[in-house]
Amino acid sequence: MNAQVIADIADDNPIRIEPLSAHIGAEISGVDLSRPLPQPQIDAIRAALLKWRVVFFREQFLSHEQQVAFSAQFGELTVGHPVFGHVEGHPQIYSIAKFRKATRFEGAPLLRPWTGWHTDVTAAVNPPFASILRGVTIPPYGGDTQWTNLVIAYEKLSAPLRAFVDGLRGVHRFAPPAGASGTGAFEQAVKDQPLVSEHPLVRVHPETGERALYVSPGFLKQIVGLAPRESQVLLELLWEHVTRPEFTVRFKWEPGSIAFWDNRSTAHLAPTDIFDLDFDRQLYRTTLVGDVPVGPDGKPSVAIQGSPVGAAAAVALN
Ligand code: SIN
Repeated sequence: MNAQVIADIADDNPIRIEPLSAHIGAEISGVDLSRPLPQPQIDAIRAALLKWRVVFFREQFLSHEQQVAFSAQFGELTVGHPVFGHVEGHPQIYSIAKFRKATRFEGAPLLRPWTGWHTDVTAAVNPPFASILRGVTIPPYGGDTQWTNLVIAYEKLSAPLRAFVDGLRGVHRFAPPAGASGTGAFEQAVKDQPLVSEHPLVRVHPETGERALYVSPGFLKQIVGLAPRESQVLLELLWEHVTRPEFTVRFKWEPGSIAFWDNRSTAHLAPTDIFDLDFDRQLYRTTLVGDVPVGPDGKPSVAIQGSPVGAAAAVALN
């Protein structure tokens, strides 16, 4: 059987969408992201994003300006990062360098199977709805990124547990990992720009109506109303569940690769094996302004500290 799905947009510009696993991830080819896309291609990419949660492109050697212009076809861009800033001269670009000062810690944090998994900026009341990551300097081996599908994770819970988590909410905040040392830069950034929000544990996707287990392991600290031990045990069970390998896809980067993912239905894991290798790794990320999550009961998230993540100031595109 040919697993490749052909989206016949028009005879002269077909695009191909090739699924990479049962539940998440598809590679899209037949598009040139360095130029404005025809509307049917934008629609096809958006539909693939909703279906496959993360889509990948190869051999798209974009400049910062071209990455911004590509991203802007799918929504308004946020500032590079609301806490850690942006690339000088490029307010919408966030540098994902190998040795990011704010996120690389000395010492040995308490490692669990879900350590490092997160959904982008869920400490904000309106986390970016999508992220677009462009690979520039890529190690010859190592440095893969993984994503997981939070909708299938929700659907694969037992019915009684789904009913229980449907009514719960959790507090998300920026904080260094437990047990890590050398966290001064991170702590200072968080002190300057505190971000804490309460989100539903189950988020209704605003475009598809699907329910997602919205349990960003890196940010979610406490389930509201539960005793600390109850909260810890339930969160660990949910985090272990959402990172089950069959819900995930693993992407091997090349220079010119782009990953475009839906933060409303995924969590992802940045690699740590790169710190065991001498190779450099440099990627650049843009994020698109998101709405305020809503739970199955229709109740929206609330900000506890910090402002919503707004659009970055417009810059001239060419
Ligand atoms: C991210 O968490 O957005 C970066 C992922 C990566 O470095 O692969």
